[in-house]
Amino acid sequence: MKRCLQLAKCGEYYTAPNPMVGAALVYDGKIIGEGFHRRYGGAHAEPNAIRSVKEPSLLEKSTLYVNLEPCSHYGKTPPCADLIVSKQIPRVVIGSSDPNPKVAGKGIEILTNAGIEVTVGVMEDACRMLNKRFFTYFLQKRPYVFLKWAQTYDAFIDKKRQSVENGKALLISNDVTAQLTHKMRAENQAIMVGTQTIALDNPHLTLRNWRGRNPVRIAIDRRLRINREFNIFDGKTPTVLFTEKEHPPKKNVAKKNVEYIKIDFNEKLIENMLNMCYKKNIQSVLVEGGAQLLNTFIASGLWDEANVEVGHTAIGNGVQAPAFSDVPDIVKTYGGNKWLHYKNKHKQPVSAENIENVSNV
Ligand SMILES: NC(=O)c1ccc[n+]([C@@H]2O[C@H](COP(=O)([O-])OP(=O)(O)OC[C@H]3O[C@@H](n4cnc5c(N)ncnc54)[C@H](OP(=O)(O)O)[C@@H]3O)[C@@H](O)[C@H]2O)c1
Repeated sequence: MKRCLQLAKCGEYYTAPNPMVGAALVYDGKIIGEGFHRRYGGAHAEPNAIRSVKEPSLLEKSTLYVNLEPCSHYGKTPPCADLIVSKQIPRVVIGSSDPNPKVAGKGIEILTNAGIEVTVGVMEDACRMLNKRFFTYFLQKRPYVFLKWAQTYDAFIDKKRQSVENGKALLISNDVTAQLTHKMRAENQAIMVGTQTIALDNPHLTLRNWRGRNPVRIAIDRRLRINREFNIFDGKTPTVLFTEKEHPPKKNVAKKNVEYIKIDFNEKLIENMLNMCYKKNIQSVLVEGGAQLLNTFIASGLWDEANVEVGHTAIGNGVQAPAFSDVPDIVKTYGGNKWLHYKNKHKQPVSAENIENVSNV
């Protein structure tokens, strides 16, 4: 199973919204075949592992190990459980059952009904942890949320600026941490920022310093005040803007890969935005600022992990950084900056009413 997890991780950055899955075939104590899910829409781990076996007659005497329950439905590829049955593999060891209601136990049922010996729950915690975004999405009906910001030694995320003309954002990150942030962008399906961050920083919010795919860009534009000349309107990657305006612009917007979504800002803003992400099959969101958006997330309790970079200079005053009452669970140093990791120990579930709203997706 450890080997399956290693293999699964080879698909990192390219499988979402599918999970990372690795599979190994063992005969007589030796791995005779292995494979992983390489990219969304491509073959699953099990057929890749089965295809890699040089002596197919050994399949009938082998054990298949896989970190997630084999699928039972026709998605972009045929059901893996049927393939395992047709290859007459006598034993299957599974890390965790699949939380996707389209599978959820049905894959295991196909195997056991065919007389295959099935073991479920080997290294289950590690298997769920590897796909924490996928599991959170299906079990909590919301994306997995990471918060990330950089602050000065005296806890400011920027100097006070009124407009772009007041100069560029304060540089706190170094080359190493800037790259780490891009790694986080690659690991998550969407990146979200507040209106003021767009207005003052004009960020591209794309992936440049790491391999992988661009995340979906999400920004708040409550009153439609973000000018079309800003970089997020460059059409290079899908972009979603949340607004409260009744008639958000339609003309030329779709062509630019931009979608406006009207939501209620007065109540449960974060929950409403995460609901929309859920409906769009977005399983993870990296919230990169600014302070107001981050504070709203922290107050909602709807976040999972936070990474706070602390520089070594003090600026005296500026935009106050958000703060946690808890202590970080991991502290590292990268290129001279501290990198504090927090886990949300007080997670709030999405309210039942909102779960009902999204449960038919
Ligand atoms: N160091 C870092 O890691 C980092 C990262 C990102 C940004 N920044 C800095 O942070 C500063 C911007 O932060 P900020 O706190 O001023 O602004 P922000 O969080 O980026 O955006 C706030 C704006 O978003 C809209 N909004 C409305 N309701 C909201 C709600 N409930 N929660 C969140 N946003 C809501 C509002 O726009 P309307 O007024 O139109 O309603 C509000 O003014 C900039 O100086 C930027 O450079 C630093």
